[in-house]
Amino acid sequence: MEKTLILIKPDGVARSLTGKIIHRFEQRGLNVVALKLLTVSKAQAAAHYDEHKNQPFFENLVGFITSGPLVAMVIKGENAVKVSRAMIGSANPAEAQPGTIRGDFATALQYNVIHGSDSAASAEREIANLFKPHELFE
Ligand code: TYD
Ligand code: MG
Repeated sequence: MEKTLILIKPDGVARSLTGKIIHRFEQRGLNVVALKLLTVSKAQAAAHYDEHKNQPFFENLVGFITSGPLVAMVIKGENAVKVSRAMIGSANPAEAQPGTIRGDFATALQYNVIHGSDSAASAEREIANLFKPHELFE
């Protein structure tokens, strides 16, 4: 069993997509083992997106992700990282397939509703950035 970090970004929360998105993961058979609504700090956001720290879009990305409450959750299941990334779809709106979360709910690269960890190692690091061990129910 694998764990991954999912964020419903501030745009997704503001658009009341939380229930629909959680429903998709549960329907697929992935289990929510940690869940909270929070506004992340600039430091947490910068750590979360550390791999992009030299990109021109980094400041806007941190500004956006800290702009309001988001839903952070840890989901667990067989191949949770790959399965959830496939369900999320491409960050490029021109490539996000209908039936994926971004393909159904997003049209902008920056305001793309959701984040999912891209590897088990990223998931471990991203989960530790936002959750304390006792917040996970496994
Ligand atoms: P990335 O890790 O490439 O995508 P994903 O979210 O699918 O892992 O990029 C992280 C986020 O950064 C992405 O969801 C949206 C934002 N972003 C931009 O704002 N501009 C860009 O040119 C890119 C590549 C990403
Ligand atoms: Mg990424």
